[in-house]
Amino acid sequence: MSIISKDIAKAVALLSAENVVAIPTETVYGLAGNIYSEKAIRTIFETKQRPFFNPLIVHIASTSCLDKIVAHIPKKAKLLAEAFWPGPITLVLKKKAVIPDVITAGKDTVAVRIPNHPVILELLNQLEFPLAAPSANPFNSISPTTAIHVETYFKDKIKMVLDGGPCKSGIESTIIGFENDEPIIYRLGSTSIEAIENVVGKVEIKNKKEIAPDAPGMLERHYAPTTKTILSDNIEDSILPYKNKRVGIITFKSSIINDTVEFQIALSKSGDLTEAASKLYNALHQLDALNLDIIIAEKFPDYGLGKSINDRLNRATKN
Ligand code: TXA
Ligand code: MG
Repeated sequence: MSIISKDIAKAVALLSAENVVAIPTETVYGLAGNIYSEKAIRTIFETKQRPFFNPLIVHIASTSCLDKIVAHIPKKAKLLAEAFWPGPITLVLKKKAVIPDVITAGKDTVAVRIPNHPVILELLNQLEFPLAAPSANPFNSISPTTAIHVETYFKDKIKMVLDGGPCKSGIESTIIGFENDEPIIYRLGSTSIEAIENVVGKVEIKNKKEIAPDAPGMLERHYAPTTKTILSDNIEDSILPYKNKRVGIITFKSSIINDTVEFQIALSKSGDLTEAASKLYNALHQLDALNLDIIIAEKFPDYGLGKSINDRLNRATKN
C-alpha cells in the first residue's frame, strides 16, 4: 500500500506519537519530527543516514513562535522575516536552551523558517510543537520535489508522506546567518540574492566548502544523481566524446538537435529562471532513473535564481 496520503489528521497523530512524517513545503519535501522528541529527531538522522554534525531546520507556523526558540533577533533578521516569511528563507539565530542540542549539532544557533505551503501551515497550526525537517532524501542525494520522489527513497522506512503536490519553488531555502548582526548567505536557494539585497542592502556570501561545518548543505558534493553528471558552457561540444553512449541533457531554454542525445529536458522554454528552478530536481530525478551513461547540464545565467541553479548543478557534478 502507498504511504502517500493527504490526511492531515493522520499526520498530526503520527507526529504527536513521536514518528517522522514526510511533509510538503514550497521548496522541497522535508522529513519532519517533533523538535522536542529525541526519538523522532534520531529517527530523522537514521532514516536519512545523515551525520549528526549536520544540524536541522526548525519549521514554525508564525513569528509568534520565534521568541520561544531564539534568544536574539538582529534588526536585519527582522526585516528579512517581515519581507519573506512565509517563504523560502531560513534564518540562523542565537538559540534558547529549549532547543535540543541534537537539532543544532551542539551549536548555539538554530536555523528557522516559516514555510509557504498551505498544507504544512495547516499541519503546524494543529500541532503543539514546531517541526524539525531536513530535506526528505538520503544524505547527499537529490532533494525530493514530489511525494513520489520521497516514497521511492523511503517506502519501507517511514509511515507516511503527506501529499501537497509538486513543490512550487523546487530548490531549498536560502540560508542566512548573522555575524555581528550583519547577514551572511550560507546557502544560495529559492530566494535570490537580489531580492535579499533589496531589503537589507549588500550581503556577503560564504557559500564555500570551507564553511562546510557551518552549513553542510554546502558540502562540495551534494544534491547528486547517481549517474555521472557534468556542467557545460557549450553542450554541442561537450556531447562530442559521447557518440556511442547514452546521453541525457538538461538545458535552460532551447533544445539540442543531435542524434547522440537520447533524452533532453529544457527547464523553461520561455526563459523564466523561477520556472527552471522549480523543475530542476525533477529533471535530475527523471534522467537519473534512465540508467544513462552521462547527464550533461547547461550552465545557467549567473544572476537571480540562475546563481542558485548553478550552485546545485556544481555540487551535483563533483565526483
Ligand atoms: O528549503 C529547505 O530549507 C528545506 C525544507 C524542507 O525546509 N530544508 C532543507 O534542510 O533544505 P536540509 O537539512 O537539507 O538543509 C539544512 C541546512 C544544512 O545545510 C545545515 O547545515 C544548515 O541548514 N543549518 C541548519 N542549522 C544550522 C545552524 N545552526 N548553523 C548553520 N547552518 C545550519
Ligand atoms: Mg538537504
